[in-house]
Amino acid sequence: MANSHGTITTDNHAALWHGRFLEGPDAAAVNFETSINDDMRMAMVDIQGSIAHAKMLCKQNLISKDEMDAIINGLNSIKTDLLKGKDKNGNPFKVDLSAEDIHSFIEATLTDRVGEPGKKVHTGRSRNDQIALDERLYLKHQIKMLKKELVQLINVLVNIASENKDTLIPGFTHMQHAQPVTLAHHVCAWAWMFYRDADRISDAFKRVDLSPIGAGALATSGLPLNREFEAELNEFSGVTANSLDTVSDRDYYLEVASDLSMIQMHLSRACEEIVYWSTTEFNFIDLSEKWSTGSSIMPQKKNPDFAELIRGKTGRVYGDMVALFTMMKGLPLSYDRDMQEDKASFFEAYDTVISSVRIFREMVRTAKWNKDVMAKGCEGGYLNATDVADYLVRKGLPFRTAHGVSAGLVRIGIEQNLKLEELDFSEYEKASPLFEKDIYDLITPKNCVEIRTVTGGPASSAVQKQIDSLKNFISSNKSDDVDSEEDDWDLIFENYYK
Ligand code: ARG
Repeated sequence: MANSHGTITTDNHAALWHGRFLEGPDAAAVNFETSINDDMRMAMVDIQGSIAHAKMLCKQNLISKDEMDAIINGLNSIKTDLLKGKDKNGNPFKVDLSAEDIHSFIEATLTDRVGEPGKKVHTGRSRNDQIALDERLYLKHQIKMLKKELVQLINVLVNIASENKDTLIPGFTHMQHAQPVTLAHHVCAWAWMFYRDADRISDAFKRVDLSPIGAGALATSGLPLNREFEAELNEFSGVTANSLDTVSDRDYYLEVASDLSMIQMHLSRACEEIVYWSTTEFNFIDLSEKWSTGSSIMPQKKNPDFAELIRGKTGRVYGDMVALFTMMKGLPLSYDRDMQEDKASFFEAYDTVISSVRIFREMVRTAKWNKDVMAKGCEGGYLNATDVADYLVRKGLPFRTAHGVSAGLVRIGIEQNLKLEELDFSEYEKASPLFEKDIYDLITPKNCVEIRTVTGGPASSAVQKQIDSLKNFISSNKSDDVDSEEDDWDLIFENYYK
């Protein structure tokens, strides 16, 4: 808002760009253009970036060692106070929500605290490369956190699989009885989706891991900056190649938002299965009361609301992804203010996905599996019809002919209301002279599973191989590389709303 001198202020601080203006914007305009609600959660990385920038400026003789020390001490004091929520005198200290953005707030607070050196921190820098830096630094942290959660989820699934290598469950195609598998095989199928998700975000990490700072507003700087040194201080693997591209680029958010959509889609599909597996008709799974809800009118109800909410939130995540792609599609190079909208969409998608991963994991970890019901489900429905055909194939009959023989037996079973294993042997003899009495032993659901030892199959030996490779993945990703200080970053954001 404009103060009595017509200077544009954000509460007690003038906007960084006020010098050229005689008049301040309308209060509603300030309210409309601020991004601080979204970018305040990047306060810690903004400070980290400014500390690195001051070190680079000093190394390049653009500021003195004393000035660098003053800037670093000032920034560290802001960091300490933000983490504590109090300043050194014990007064409440929070991000000033009337500031234009987190960069303005931290620079203005720094100058309040350390005076003249504070005015040098923005030397050779623009908020255009600064926001790209903050986003990339914060996104690297977010990717690590999400990967950790995915690995923990895979671990829970692998534990369930290890205990259920012999637990039979009907497999479906078109939601019709198909062939029997095991709970271990099914749960490993979920685990592989999340394995690919973890792999995908690790791959995206490589493209996020390039330092944008030094790109300036769009054309770097005439001052002798050292981008490589600053990249090293911020622990990037390298620097971006083109300054114009650097400040125009939000591919990292679009890419990871696509990955997030994929994760949420995977969760949603598994949740769909949990929803119908928990119906009275299926009764394969009994969700813990901690992860179920009741009805305000129907006293008997125990509803799978958490699975439904995860499924429901998928639309939100896709919406955020589409919002990001749409926001970018018409923008000329380089920076356009439209891009400020990126954080609200990306953070909403990220927060939704990471909380869904956690909730899904706990819901599944605490669920009870009704093994008898699942095994019973493998008995009706002619799930062993393919195995009857395969029996004849093993005796030399062409598969297409064998398929017809088995289909004929299924037809007789339907007419006599009997399962294939209940048909009289005379029916088998009529169908093909190749049948012998061992057919009955070979088409039990257990045998139908155990005979499928092909790589990737449901036999316990084949599933054990899947479990082993998933376990290898888990142990090579037991990430303690997300340090506790980084965990604290999110506290500032959470504390803010307390
Ligand atoms: N708040 C802005 C954003 O999030 C920071 C960059 C502002 N740059 C500018 N030229 N106004 O994108």
